[in-house]
Amino acid sequence: MGADTGGVVVTGGARGIGLAIARNLASSGHGVVIADLDEAAGQAAASDIKSEGGRAVFCRVDVADRAMVAAAVATCQEAFGHIHAIVNNAGFNKPQNFLETTEDNWNRIMKVNGLGVLIGIQEAAKAMIAAGHGGSIVNTASIAGRSGDGQWAPYCASKAAVISLTQAAARALAPHGITVNAFAPGVVETDLWTQLDLDLIALGAASRPGEAMENFSRNIPLGRTSRPEDIVGTVAFLISPASAYMTGQCLMIDGGMVMQ
Ligand SMILES: NC(=O)c1ccc[n+]([C@@H]2O[C@H](COP(=O)([O-])OP(=O)(O)OC[C@H]3O[C@@H](n4cnc5c(N)ncnc54)[C@H](O)[C@@H]3O)[C@@H](O)[C@H]2O)c1
Repeated sequence: MGADTGGVVVTGGARGIGLAIARNLASSGHGVVIADLDEAAGQAAASDIKSEGGRAVFCRVDVADRAMVAAAVATCQEAFGHIHAIVNNAGFNKPQNFLETTEDNWNRIMKVNGLGVLIGIQEAAKAMIAAGHGGSIVNTASIAGRSGDGQWAPYCASKAAVISLTQAAARALAPHGITVNAFAPGVVETDLWTQLDLDLIALGAASRPGEAMENFSRNIPLGRTSRPEDIVGTVAFLISPASAYMTGQCLMIDGGMVMQ
């Protein structure tokens, strides 16, 4: 620990996949900005990382609010010298049956999962370009962006948007030495599934907690659901020199659920 490898902004870093990513990057010497809506969980995440010997600050951010995202990027530069990378990871789902899916559901999900990623890419890239160095941008997609699901159409569309934004930004930012890649988790055991379970029970699509996850997980080739720790190595790779010649890609981390 302690090597000066610059800072990384991790949105949605207060818990789940984002927290595991932040913790892992901090353990390899990066300073991390935990950028999250949830102040209590975000502050706790930053202090846990510091107590493990890492460097971390919390910044309260709604990823759909450009000024807040820009402030998190500025905090990263002030606290850690420069912004090496951003991980645009914040996202959520709210299932509705396809024919009853509302404009409000679409707008709320697309605003965070789609627009939030566009803003995160733009604000990090502007800072990297202004500072005259390159950088890495990593976006959290999903298997949902590669295959539809009748009960979360806006979520699927938002994650397909993440893959498209990754490709568009990769082309736009390549001349500046900035790579843009994504990863697509399958079924990861986080609070997102706790909420999804409750929502699917309310829709009548599941009868008890855990059932939805079991149904989704039945045919995973590698035989198990994943944990946030299954994700972190790929993200470390995507912000390291080892992936310097990769851009515009989406790596599946799903135990083999989607093969293409
Ligand atoms: N858990 C899975 O099975 C799974 C699978 C595929 C993709 N994903 C994606 O991975 C990412 C992380 O998911 P997770 O499972 O860790 O979820 P989680 O619910 O455990 O954590 C999400 C975090 O994002 C934060 N957040 C939500 N909206 C925000 C906003 N507008 N601005 C800033 N922060 C916000 C929350 O406060 C929370 O701390 C999401 O983009 C999700 O869609 C998750």
